[in-house]
Amino acid sequence: MKNKVIIITGAAMGLGLATAEYLAAKGAKLSLVDYNGEALQDAVKKLKDINADVELLTIEADVSNEEAVKNYVEKTVETFGRIDGFYNNAGIEGKQAPMTEYDLAVFKKVIDINLMGVYYGMRYVIPVMQKQQYGKIVNVASVGGIRGVQNQTAYVASKHAVSGMTKNAGLEYGQDGILTNAIAPGAILTPMVEEAFKQVNPDDPKAAETEYAKRNPTRRLGVPKEVATVVSFLLSEENGYVSGQTIAIDGGESNIYGNS
Ligand SMILES: NC(=O)c1ccc[n+]([C@@H]2O[C@H](COP(=O)([O-])OP(=O)(O)OC[C@H]3O[C@@H](n4cnc5c(N)ncnc54)[C@H](O)[C@@H]3O)[C@@H](O)[C@H]2O)c1
Repeated sequence: MKNKVIIITGAAMGLGLATAEYLAAKGAKLSLVDYNGEALQDAVKKLKDINADVELLTIEADVSNEEAVKNYVEKTVETFGRIDGFYNNAGIEGKQAPMTEYDLAVFKKVIDINLMGVYYGMRYVIPVMQKQQYGKIVNVASVGGIRGVQNQTAYVASKHAVSGMTKNAGLEYGQDGILTNAIAPGAILTPMVEEAFKQVNPDDPKAAETEYAKRNPTRRLGVPKEVATVVSFLLSEENGYVSGQTIAIDGGESNIYGNS
């Protein structure tokens, strides 16, 4: 990944930051996008601790705002001259509620960020990669993009859409040297998942986490670095022929049927 130019959205924490850390150590040039400016600056400090020479561009932007997306793509090209890889990662979970009771404003927000944000990203990054006749894209779906998840209709709808758009990007732009894949993480311990356990059991989120981990074949949750290694492979030249796939990173949990 040395000198590869990679855009990461949702880079300030969780899975985005873990991949930024992994790629910074490998000498990639990173364009970090997040709507939380303060957390983005904390992330810069962490990345400089890992590699003092790492070349970073930080852009405060909301991925659900089309103009902001256009701008982060333009700024990256102005600064680094090209885009080798795009980790289209920013997303939110929304609130947990049965389908018919789901708050409509929250539903629309989840779709705006998780679906439209990922789409706008590809809409503006792909033309740059077409000119280069080279590029690797990793969109972030979820196990909720390949399975149903009770009480998370907006999230599941948005992540199935990510998986679908990934297939289409793979079909339409493979001829331009662009390989597009999605990842489907299971429960990986990040601020988002900690928040979800608080919703499940506000009095004892740790108990909810322990209970959840029991059903995973590995009997534990994943850690962000276990996602970063897969993303790094998909964004690198090591990946020459994987495209249009949604790859589960979940310890095998999405294969469970019944109570096994
Ligand atoms: N952690 C998991 O177990 C898990 C599982 C499946 C899928 N995912 C997906 O992985 C991605 C990252 O999740 P995470 O667990 O790291 O979440 P997180 O909440 O820990 O971090 C998400 C980051 O994205 C940023 N962000 C959110 N909305 C944004 C927006 N509109 N514009 C710009 N930045 C925005 C946040 O500020 C934050 O820095 C999400 O798409 C999520 O759905 C996570």
